[in-house]
Amino acid sequence: MAIEAFAPAKINLTLHVTGQRDDGYHLLDSLVVFAGVGDTIRVASSDALSLEIGGPEAGGLSAEPDNLVLRAARLLAPGRGAAITLTKRLPVASGIGGGSADAAATLHALSQLWELSAPTAEQALTLGADVPVCLSTSPARMRGIGERLGPVPTLPKMDIVLVNPRVAVSTPVVFRSLTAKNNPPMEADLPRWRDLPSFISWLGGQRNDLAESAIAQQPVIADVLNALRDTGALFVGMSGSGATCFGLFPRDETSVRAMSALATEHRDWWVARGPRL
Ligand code: C5P
Repeated sequence: MAIEAFAPAKINLTLHVTGQRDDGYHLLDSLVVFAGVGDTIRVASSDALSLEIGGPEAGGLSAEPDNLVLRAARLLAPGRGAAITLTKRLPVASGIGGGSADAAATLHALSQLWELSAPTAEQALTLGADVPVCLSTSPARMRGIGERLGPVPTLPKMDIVLVNPRVAVSTPVVFRSLTAKNNPPMEADLPRWRDLPSFISWLGGQRNDLAESAIAQQPVIADVLNALRDTGALFVGMSGSGATCFGLFPRDETSVRAMSALATEHRDWWVARGPRL
C-alpha cells in the first residue's frame, strides 16, 4: 500500500513580529496562504524507515536522520518502518516552508498508512513553528510562534507568482538581526474584503517585519521585489524570512506573462505560479 500527500508552498502575505518569548522564539501575527506548487511525499509499507529524495530541488538536501521528514515519522511511531519518497520542487531555506510542509505532509500520509488518529497541531509544533499551519493547508491567521491558528475572511480570487533568486537565507540569523521586535499586530478583526482591489489596498498597510533584515543578508531580494513590480504585479512582498518573494495578480493571463518574462530575463532564478489559497 502507498499513500501520497501534497506539501504546498506556504506564503506569508503579511508577517508582523510582535514580541519575543523568554526562550528566544518570536511572536508573530501573519496571514498565511498556500500555493498550488509544492513537494510530494509518498509513503509505502516497509519494515525499515527510509527516505529517498528526488525532484528538481533535491540537490540541497540530504536524507540524514535529522531531516524533518524522518523526525516526523519517528514522532508518530518510534521504531516503525515505512519507505518514504520526497519529491522536492520547492527551493530549500527559502521562506516558503518547504521543510515544514514536507513534515506536515509526512504526518498526514504516515498516520493514514499506519492507521493512526489524525496528527495534531501540538505534535506538529514539536517539529517547527510553521508545521501546524502546514498541517491545515488552508488560509489562516497565525499567531503565537505559529501555534495559534485562526480563520480568515474569504480571500478574493487572485493569481500568485513566486520567485526565488537561488540564495539560501538563514531564518535564525534573520530573526537575530532584527532591531525592532515589538511591532504592532494586524487589527483584531480582519476586514471583509469586497474584492481584489480592496484586499490589495489593505495589504498595502501591512508589513513583513523580516524583510529589512533578510535584504541586509541577501541584497538580491530587493532586485527580486523590483523585478516582480516591473511585471505589473498588483502587490509584491517577501514570504517568511526570504528569499522567496511573491507577486499578486488578477486571475487572468497577466500572471502567465509575468512568469514567462521573469523566467526569460532571470534564467538562474526559480519562478513558479499557481494559486491554491
Ligand atoms: O521552528 P523552526 O525550526 O522552523 O524555526 C527556525 C528558527 O527560526 C528558530 O530556531 C528560531 O531561531 C527562529 N524562529 C523564531 N520565531 C519563530 C519561528 C522561528 O525566532 N516564531
